[in-house]
Amino acid sequence: MALESLVIQGPNQLKGDVQISGAKNAALPMMVLTLLTDQPCYLSHVPRLKDIESMASILSSIGTQISIKDETHVLDTKSVEKTHAPYDEVRKMRASVMVLGPMLARTGRARVALPGGCAIGVRPIDLHLKAFEKMGATIEIQDGDVIATLPKVKACKVLFDRVTVTGTMNALMAASRGNEPVKLMNCATEPEVTQVAQTLQTMGATIEGVGTDTMTICGRNDLQGFSTRVIPDRIEAGTYMVAAAITKGDVRLSGVEPSHVDSLTSKLEQMGVSIQKEGQDILRVSMNDELLPVDIQTAPYPGFATDMQAQFVALLTQANGKSTVTETIFENRFMHVAELVRMGADIRIKNSMLSISGKTKLSGAPVMATDLRASASLVLAGLVAEGQTTVNRIYHLDRGYERMEEKLIPLGATISRVTSS
Ligand code: EPZ
Repeated sequence: MALESLVIQGPNQLKGDVQISGAKNAALPMMVLTLLTDQPCYLSHVPRLKDIESMASILSSIGTQISIKDETHVLDTKSVEKTHAPYDEVRKMRASVMVLGPMLARTGRARVALPGGCAIGVRPIDLHLKAFEKMGATIEIQDGDVIATLPKVKACKVLFDRVTVTGTMNALMAASRGNEPVKLMNCATEPEVTQVAQTLQTMGATIEGVGTDTMTICGRNDLQGFSTRVIPDRIEAGTYMVAAAITKGDVRLSGVEPSHVDSLTSKLEQMGVSIQKEGQDILRVSMNDELLPVDIQTAPYPGFATDMQAQFVALLTQANGKSTVTETIFENRFMHVAELVRMGADIRIKNSMLSISGKTKLSGAPVMATDLRASASLVLAGLVAEGQTTVNRIYHLDRGYERMEEKLIPLGATISRVTSS
């Protein structure tokens, strides 16, 4: 398929309304949850993203019937028999490792290609596998595949060495059809994990401690189907909040869950940005003054989200003074920095900490997206830069943002999608 780019004429000032979509990182595990029941499941508010299409094709390839009726995904897994998610699907999207847990719970065995690393880091799944072994699974690695068997879940305690979002989800799902108590400690508490746990409860599993870092799940082998609405995407919301701030605009975001962006809101307010809650799911973000510098350190939820780090770095180039950004989650999540420097940013890297001196004038340039959130960062920089910015390889962007240009144009951005030569 031809490569596409986004061409932006800057500077822009964004004003108006934007609707936030369902969360990619909740929709993906919710699609995989359907493997735990033979009954049909209904999922609404699913975002239209490449990663969702990839997950749908993986699930279809093992026998899931998927149909979409007026924005609702209907998934029926009663005819699933294959237990192998092949490499050429898995390498396209790491989230497919989440097939392991439900496949083990459903059939007692699973074979999933080990996901390669990706641009932001090696991203092993050792903590997922250790959790399964604690529950009684045997794991072997063969020809680049994980081959796991789990005939019966045994009562156990799992302490995650470090917080892992999909690791917590995989462990919950693997234990969900056993009927022994499995205690998970040092769990991720991201809202997407909470929605997975709550959905497992509606399916019939008993879980104590939902929303905290310690959950005890006692499953059952006759889990029911579910019908649920995917929670709002807090990272998409955060990206548009930064877009309003960086362009000194005035944007109303609807379909947001304000409590899920608290850490971001407090950082933006420290920078002098005004954020008003105008309704249950409406935030108004406006800025008409000089931005103040801040220090950021990424952390598991409710700390500052690593998925918002790249977007914030673009914003901090426009703050008057020196800011620092420390990335504690991934070992190589600064690919956006070199491209921002090409646009005129003054950023130094030392170990896992950035020092950003602002305010620097950014000039449009052809830039290269390398991963999902880095590409969002380059679009944000292009919105405020003088002149034309061309963000290439935007297939990265389309993995996690519903046609970003179609949401930015009504806000006044001069942006278009072109097929690269
Ligand atoms: C999820 O990835 C998200 N993806 C990521 O979003 C997000 O950046 C990340 O959580 C952190 O919030 C999905 O939910 C599909 P982790 P995940 O396991 O679960 C290390 C995006 O932009 N680790 O919480 O893969 C790992 O290498 C994506 O939408 C191990 O060492 O992340 C990382 O350094 C990017 N061993 C840290 O832990 C393991 O077994 C956190 O990873 C698992 C993880």
